Amino acid sequence: MDFKLTPEQEMIRDMVRDFTEKSIKPVAALHDEEKHFPYQNIKRMADLGLMGMNIPIEYGGSEVGVIAYSLAITEIAKGCASHAVTTSVTNMVAEVINEFGQDEIKRKHLPKLCNGEYPAGSFALTEPHAGSDAANIRTSAVRRNDTYILNGTKAFITSGEVSGVTVVWAVTERNSRKGKGISAFLVEKGSPGFKVGKAEEKMGHRASALNELIFEDCVVPANCLLGKESEGFKIAMMELDGGRIGIGSLSVGVGFAAIDFATQYVKEREAFGKPLSSFEAIQWMIADSYTGLEAAQLLVLRAAYLKENKLPFTKEASMAKLFATETARNVAIRAIQMLGGYGYTKDYPVERYLRDIIGTTLYEGTSEVQRIVISREILQG
Ligand code: CAA
Repeated sequence: MDFKLTPEQEMIRDMVRDFTEKSIKPVAALHDEEKHFPYQNIKRMADLGLMGMNIPIEYGGSEVGVIAYSLAITEIAKGCASHAVTTSVTNMVAEVINEFGQDEIKRKHLPKLCNGEYPAGSFALTEPHAGSDAANIRTSAVRRNDTYILNGTKAFITSGEVSGVTVVWAVTERNSRKGKGISAFLVEKGSPGFKVGKAEEKMGHRASALNELIFEDCVVPANCLLGKESEGFKIAMMELDGGRIGIGSLSVGVGFAAIDFATQYVKEREAFGKPLSSFEAIQWMIADSYTGLEAAQLLVLRAAYLKENKLPFTKEASMAKLFATETARNVAIRAIQMLGGYGYTKDYPVERYLRDIIGTTLYEGTSEVQRIVISREILQG
């Protein structure tokens, strides 16, 4: 077993680390405060090849692989979870289009997603009444000549208001068995009948957008069907497997940011005449935090390795997401404890890390959904 990264993977990790230090960390707190979507940085990250990391070069991607992608998302998240979730979801959307889009659709949209002409892509599965129970969606798509007409409402859609393209799941066969009559469509920004609804006021991830999307007789050309009609639910599940590697990677980054900051703080802050770092209670928090995060990163990288090598990775991606998000959340709470009262203030970034990490145990499948996926995979062999 070889734990060594390739020179290219190391180079990408170091490049993103440098970008995060110089361009993301300095703006993260203000963007969080002002709920400002980081258009400028996202374009620069696209220029660095971070928006289509598993997309072939001929469609504008950088094709560097899933491990490099995971490392990049972790480094971005050390600076700002909002930058990281936008990058992660955009990569996921580019992959859906690459795997299931017709060639003309790929040629039209993938270069724009990869080069940042589209500030983001969106993944519109969730509806107001169907979150974890994703097969229960009601948005409909009816074939009319060479178009589909979409009607319905999506909820909690990351980057909804800024995306150039959105992948939308809709029911095409109402009478089929649950999960069987769903299809996936690519919908361009500005399509007739497609409206962006309210923006959610969130606890964390405040520099990324989260919107309701409304489809009222929205006309979508038939060549925007992704994959085959009625096979959309499987597409969603397969792509979410990959997305969960992204969110696991993001969580590892936020967790390291929190404990790195707190560890530096306890080396400098004194109590009872000595640095906080000399107290065993604090030392154990440091040991537990780094051990948990390194274990989480190993799980994430194992899932990335399996995906990169085209091996089954559903269970491993869910394990990685579950463990990484919950570990990082515990680490962020510990980091606040290490800073004491200061950790509870906006003078230090650890309260932002906690607000951001809580979202990761909810989106792209809650922790409870990951446990369903993992236990089913184990019980069904
Ligand atoms: N790969 C391929 N196929 C899969 C699959 C996978 N990982 N998982 C399920 N399927 C297939 C099944 O084999 C089944 O097909 P067959 O009947 O032909 O065998 C079909 O899909 C239905 O699967 P289930 O019976 O398991 O479906 P279910 O209704 O019991 O749901 C679930 C299972 C795991 C709970 C699923 O609904 C789920 O993952 N829910 C969470 C949804 C989610 O993650 N939403 C996130 C929204 S997107 C987001 O957050 C992005 C963002 O903006 C940040």
